[in-house]
Amino acid sequence: MPEIAFVNDVFLPLAEARVSVEDRGFQFGDGIYELLRVYAGVPFHQRDHLERLEQSAREIGIPLPYSRDRWEAVIAEAVARSGFPDAKVYIQVTRGVAPRDHVPSASLTPTIVVTVRAMTPLAAELYANGGDVVTVTDTRWSRCNVKAISLLANVLAKQQARERGAVEAIFVRDGVVLEGSTSNVMIVKDHGLVTPPAGPLLLPGVTRKVVLGLAREAGVAVKEQAVTEAELHAAEEVFLTGTTIEVLPVVRVNGQTIGTGFPGPVTRLLMTRFREARNMYACPS
Ligand code: PDD
Repeated sequence: MPEIAFVNDVFLPLAEARVSVEDRGFQFGDGIYELLRVYAGVPFHQRDHLERLEQSAREIGIPLPYSRDRWEAVIAEAVARSGFPDAKVYIQVTRGVAPRDHVPSASLTPTIVVTVRAMTPLAAELYANGGDVVTVTDTRWSRCNVKAISLLANVLAKQQARERGAVEAIFVRDGVVLEGSTSNVMIVKDHGLVTPPAGPLLLPGVTRKVVLGLAREAGVAVKEQAVTEAELHAAEEVFLTGTTIEVLPVVRVNGQTIGTGFPGPVTRLLMTRFREARNMYACPS
């Protein structure tokens, strides 16, 4: 099955897709993106992802050339052309192509790229037994609610996590836990769920929103409030949420065991509820 790209209104095999070296995304990281999952051919919470794309574009002043319907049609066609039932769809919009100058000219045409690739999930063993995370100092800018393509701090943090045998790096700023390098963080404290509140220092994850809704439906108390690094270490349970990792239990933070050292009851409940919700979404009965 082919990996598909869509570049400025043209569908083509991913290996043949090209953009200019003078694209501002390439030269300045001047752009935004989204990543969404396709389960059984159906894009998961596509509307939330497109709303967030529009919000990111507004925040940095990139005029999005496509209507919501147009985005949906492009994604549907790209997924259909790929033939992958389970896939990841990457959408990138940059400010456009121009001779290198920090000041963008007003007349730029944004570069639109959409790619569809098969999705390889993380090892089942990680979901069964939980993974390790490490904390790192948050060196990112202060507008992390914008899903910007300039991800150098995230890349270095993830690399650091891998070097330390961990699946994810958790950004901490002044002793306060914010989010992972590609995920949101949730802890269980006094049997209730606590997650850092949305704001400029973290990405309002689509999976985060879905999981908080599932927790409320299941009668789990939910608080969106600041989590300190000490609270992270002392949590009854810790887990991560994100488009690629879904709901992933964490059993060690910086090598220290969380709770019993196994995925706890709230995490397991939400993993199950998330899988059910995902399956229902793709195949409503
Ligand atoms: N990133 N926080 C950060 C910094 C992220 O990069 C992501 C996802 C999330 C989770 O958001 P969502 O649930 O909407 O996927 C939180 C994607 C998967 C990526 O960069 O590949």
